[in-house]
Parts: sequence; structure tokens; C-alpha cells
Amino acid sequence: MRMDTRYIASEERYAKMDTMYNRCGKSGVRLPKISLGFWHNFGADAPYERSRAITHYAFDHGITHFDFANNYGTPYGSAETTWGHLMDDFAPYRDELFISTKAGYDMWPGLFGEWGSRKYLMASLDQSLKRMKLDYVDLFYSHRFDPNTPIEETLQALVDIVRQGKALYIGISNWPLEPLRQAVTYLREHDAPLLIYQGRLNLLNREPIDEGIIDFCQQQGVGFIAFSPLAQGLLTDRYLDGIPADSRMAHNHFLKADRRTPELLTYLQQLQQQAKAANHTIAQEALAWVMAQKGVTSTLVGASSVEQLATNLQLL
Ligand SMILES: NC(=O)c1ccc[n+]([C@@H]2O[C@H](COP(=O)([O-])OP(=O)(O)OC[C@H]3O[C@@H](n4cnc5c(N)ncnc54)[C@H](OP(=O)(O)O)[C@@H]3O)[C@@H](O)[C@H]2O)c1
Repeated sequence: MRMDTRYIASEERYAKMDTMYNRCGKSGVRLPKISLGFWHNFGADAPYERSRAITHYAFDHGITHFDFANNYGTPYGSAETTWGHLMDDFAPYRDELFISTKAGYDMWPGLFGEWGSRKYLMASLDQSLKRMKLDYVDLFYSHRFDPNTPIEETLQALVDIVRQGKALYIGISNWPLEPLRQAVTYLREHDAPLLIYQGRLNLLNREPIDEGIIDFCQQQGVGFIAFSPLAQGLLTDRYLDGIPADSRMAHNHFLKADRRTPELLTYLQQLQQQAKAANHTIAQEALAWVMAQKGVTSTLVGASSVEQLATNLQLL
């Protein structure tokens, strides 16, 4: 992709070095309290210059962790392809970045395009690395638990991926507590300890707290990164007066219009009052709640504009 202007990262990007990073469990890795996710708004259907501007803004403000999965973007894989283009800008900064990707959900047709087989995980990461123009990712996740594949097969594939140098650390996302326990033991015994668990946590969904996932991670020295802290935009001012044409809900796919209920609007009005008292926007109030939960290492936000990200980063 042709670049009109060369990107030079801000010299101020680590100005908040002492306050804006948390140690990830018992590991040598520190992550920003807010990280950037590429699920929506970074695929081939999004304007490249906007994706580029959001990513530059993030890195210029100390956001060193970017999160992907094989099937992010429309079409699948295109968010990783966008990152491949962004490597024109970020190659000089590769060693400052912590980049994750995942495999687990549907990616390609046939018998080996989803779930947790060794065949799928290995092939998927190879594809991701090509799209992202990377030699390795910092973190590779099993994106969901596969009840039909022996757990040892999935876990050994993750261990071997680390041995091959294709990922530096292992993550687990969306697994229930019991297989998570087994994973922590297995990975520790195989000298590839689990770095982090990724789970949905926001004011409308507190499952990782209620199910004891975060407590367990803390006890085991495993980090926890929260995704969809704004419930995909529900916990913002975005839908107070209707459904904006450029919003995620307007696509009515991952965020359905029927989520905009009278109960939600009443809740948002209460949250808005609470937010005002703290001099916050609704989004900042919702995000601050997630960041304040015990055991949360980082919180993965999405953004469709630099302005949204800038508002959210004011919390740091
Ligand atoms: N492991 C998993 O299974 C899993 C699942 C989901 C997500 N994730 C990760 O978590 C990341 C974040 O997920 P998410 O995008 O659902 O997070 P989110 O932060 O809950 O939602 C992001 C959306 O909220 C809106 N928004 C953000 N800041 C705003 C602001 N200040 N004011 C008004 N609206 C604002 C935007 O909606 P509009 O686009 O409509 O403007 C934005 O796209 C993903 O990119 C991915 O990396 C992981």
C-alpha cells in the first residue's frame, strides 16, 4: 500500500510510563490499562486512512497492545491484512508492540476451519502471520473452548506454537472455569505458562466476576483482559436518541437493534447522571468501572473514530 506521509511516532508516547501500565499476572509483561481491539472498524470495509489515524493516535498515546483474531474484519482476515499494511508505519516500532491474535471461531470452510484441533490452530496462525506481515505474534489465544477435541491436543498445539517461536505467550479466551483450571496446570507443567485470560466484562455482563474466573486468574498469577467494556457501544451516548447510520447497531449483525430497549434507555439515563457527577461521559463512566475491577490487567476498547478513542484515553 502506498504511503503518502511517513509515520514518526510521538516522542511523548511514554510520558505516562509510571501510571498507565499494569503487570500482566506474574510475568515480565506490562500492558496498557486500555488496549485497542481490531474486531470492528479495521477491516477491508473500513476506510484505511481512518484505521491508520486511530492506530497512530493509540500508539502516540502509549497504547502498545493491539488485539486481533483470525476472523476480525469483513471479510474475515481483513483486519489482520490492514495490520500488514500498517507494518509500513510500525516496522521500526515492532519491539515496542505487543500484538495478539486468536483462532477458535469459524474462519474457513470444511473440517478444519474452526474449534480447537492442532490442525486448525497451527494453520490459522500461519495464515495470520502472513496477513499481518509478522514473523511472530506476542500472544496467541485459543478463542473458545472446544468440548469435542481432547483438551491436551489444543493445549499441546499452543505449547508447540510457542516452541516454534511463532508466538511468545499463550492466552485463553471465553473458556469456562473448569477447563481453564486444567489449562493452567497443563501449560505450567509444559513450561509455557498461561499469560492471560480474555473475557467479556462490562456493567451489563459481569460473568467473569460471578463465575470466579477473575479470582482464579489472580490466584494463579494469570492476567485478565476485559473485552467489550462498552458493550459494543451500548454503554455510550451513541444510542440515546436513535440508531445512528454509521453505528455498529445500524449493521444489525453483532449488535442487534433489539438491544435498544426502554429498560436500557432508562439505565443509560441513570448512568448519565452518575457520569456527570464524576465529570465523565457515559462511555468513560462505563470504562472506568471495568478498569477498577480487582484483577483486571487491561481493557480492550474498540473505536470508529480518533475522537472516540481520545475520549476513552482521557481516563489514563
Ligand atoms: N475474545 C473475544 O471473544 C472477543 C469478543 C469481542 C471483542 N473482543 C476484543 O475486544 C475489542 C473491543 O470490543 P468492542 O469493539 O466490542 O468494544 P467496546 O469498547 O465495548 O465497543 C466499541 C464500540 O463502542 C463505540 N464507542 C467506543 N468509544 C466510544 C465513545 N467514547 N463514545 C461513543 N461510542 C463509543 C464504538 O461504536 P461504533 O463503531 O458504533 O461507533 C465502538 O466501535 C475487540 O476489538 C476485540 O479485540 C474479543
